[in-house]
Amino acid sequence: MAYKIFILVLGLFVTFSVARAENDLIDVLRDFQEFKTLLQLIQEANLTDTLRGKGPFTVFAPVDRAFTELPEDAWKSFKDVNLLRQVMSFHVVPGNVTSSELRNNVLPSSAEGQKIRINVYQNATGGKVLTANGCPITKIDAKASNGVIHVMSEVMFPLPGPSITETLSRMQNFSFLLTALQKADLAGTLSGDDTYTFFAPTNEAFDKLPPVYLEMLLTTKMALSDLLEFHMFYDVSFRPAFYDGLKIRSLQGPLLTFNVKGPPGPTAKYMVNNATFLGLQQPASNGVIHAIDQVMISPEP
Ligand SMILES: *[C@@H]1O[C@H](CO)[C@@H](O)[C@H](O)[C@H]1NC(C)=O
Ligand SMILES: *[C@@H]1O[C@H](CO)[C@@H](O)[C@H](O)[C@H]1NC(C)=O
Ligand SMILES: *[C@@H]1O[C@H](CO)[C@@H](O)[C@H](O)[C@H]1NC(C)=O
Ligand SMILES: *[C@@H]1O[C@H](CO)[C@@H](O)[C@H](O)[C@H]1NC(C)=O
Ligand SMILES: *[C@@H]1O[C@H](CO)[C@@H](O)[C@H](O)[C@H]1NC(C)=O
Repeated sequence: MAYKIFILVLGLFVTFSVARAENDLIDVLRDFQEFKTLLQLIQEANLTDTLRGKGPFTVFAPVDRAFTELPEDAWKSFKDVNLLRQVMSFHVVPGNVTSSELRNNVLPSSAEGQKIRINVYQNATGGKVLTANGCPITKIDAKASNGVIHVMSEVMFPLPGPSITETLSRMQNFSFLLTALQKADLAGTLSGDDTYTFFAPTNEAFDKLPPVYLEMLLTTKMALSDLLEFHMFYDVSFRPAFYDGLKIRSLQGPLLTFNVKGPPGPTAKYMVNNATFLGLQQPASNGVIHAIDQVMISPEP
């Protein structure tokens, strides 16, 4: 009797574990209970069958809460099914990319075509923060029969643009900055092979400067390039790289000081030298753009 029960239990166990191994990416996402929006959008983008297919695929999966934090503009753009498919495909990488391959500045190619930039940052207490295009990865390596899932607390949106210079030219409110970059011979620098973090003052930010100072900048190439180089540094720092009190050396030389108010995430207020970050961080092929509301005045003009 005991023998039979043992076999039965073992039989159940084996059946159970086989069933688990058969669970594809969609099944596993359903099991988690926190991907309702993602599953809905995957369905609308007609990607469900693909993610039930042979694969393997790696899915960067934002939780429901991440979608509630997207601005209204993002939701408007998701009404365009082609754009929605692009955004969803950007969260999928062909192949199994497990966490051991997620190292600083590796660039896995998404199913959308563009590369995802992986970063490993240190937070204020020295803890590691793993990000994909600047969005924190909070759980790693959930396995499905046809791939692997990494959980994210933010949605990778907007999609990356081309170079920093070209991306700025496609954004609104940076025409003055573009003219300044050209006059300072820095437009080429920001569209080359090196990677940068660039703090981009809006047109409105430049309007706040005294007209005499602005005039001086536009007629003195050296002063203008110093000012602009104070607004950038080498390497790619998305928002999770910044914490309150952090200092980073600008390309010009003097340090930039960062302030972060509130818990890290989309609701936090990020500042650099008293200028406030505006809107969403904008990834580019060679770095990231943070729009700011003020021109930062260098202590070494
Ligand atoms: C949806 O995707 C499948 C392949 O997974 C394709 O055969 C089908 O034509 C697609 N439908 C639409 C409406 O795009
Ligand atoms: C830093 O990261 C560690 C480990 O990832 C985490 O436990 C800690 O709460 C984080 N600290 C801050 C200030 O965010
Ligand atoms: C991909 O990962 C899944 C889950 O770990 C595994 O079942 C599958 O065999 C892997 N496929 C390949 C081609 O490595
Ligand atoms: C551009 O600036 C105008 C005026 O300040 C503002 O209303 C608008 O929202 C800005 N556009 C973007 C895309 O930030
Ligand atoms: C930020 O603003 C405060 C108060 O106006 C000022 O004392 C401080 O020097 C400013 N910091 C920087 C880095 O500009």
